[in-house]
Amino acid sequence: MKLIKKLKTFLRLYRQQNEFEQFLEQRQSFDKFLFDRKYFADTSAADKGVVQESELPLLQELVEKANSFPGPIIEIGTLFGFTTQRIALWKDPAKKLITVDNYCWNPFGFSPAAHFEFTHKVLWYCIKSGHIEQLNMSKDAFLSAYQGEAPSMVFIDADHNYEPTLSDIKQAQRIGARIICGHDYINEHAGVIRAVDMCGGPAQLCGSLWVL
Ligand SMILES: C[S@@+](CC[C@H](N)C(=O)[O-])C[C@H]1O[C@@H](n2cnc3c(N)ncnc32)[C@H](O)[C@@H]1O
Repeated sequence: MKLIKKLKTFLRLYRQQNEFEQFLEQRQSFDKFLFDRKYFADTSAADKGVVQESELPLLQELVEKANSFPGPIIEIGTLFGFTTQRIALWKDPAKKLITVDNYCWNPFGFSPAAHFEFTHKVLWYCIKSGHIEQLNMSKDAFLSAYQGEAPSMVFIDADHNYEPTLSDIKQAQRIGARIICGHDYINEHAGVIRAVDMCGGPAQLCGSLWVL
């Protein structure tokens, strides 16, 4: 009897040790996952690609100018809707704000579906209160099919290569946008600089925020 009891205790301890080792292994890989993604008290990744605080004064000025023209404001490149909400705050309450994204890129590696859902939650109040229309589609499909009222402003911040940026500017001109502006006129995005310069260059710059 004593031997059986000892054997049972041994087996129990052996199983517990295995479970503990498994727990440690899982914990270590989860810590590595968090570390790799810089989730430790570091929110800088969430700022990647977003219009910076120091660039917002020009954007606010442009939105307030857009308020004096008819037509919606169109944002090309929603990401998480951080800048979208700033535009929503500054725009005339009666003015429509359409934000377009196909959710192909984000700094966290979310899948397109997860990225869209996340951004939809961020923008939920503005969408439900009728201030923002969130479209999940390619900017090219949206712009080429656009038949609405000429926009008061188009804000371009999606694909920063030369051809796509030039195409966005040309499309904004084609649909009659009164103000055409965008983000990332910086050396890191030579395509944006080239495209904007091809169209006459920035009339005003604030950081990397440009307006034709
Ligand atoms: C730099 S982020 C936009 C940042 C955002 N304007 C802000 O200030 O917070 C670029 C966004 O453009 C989107 N994008 C890239 N190519 C696109 C395309 N062809 N059609 C629609 N959206 C696109 C990406 O999914 C990404 O969310």
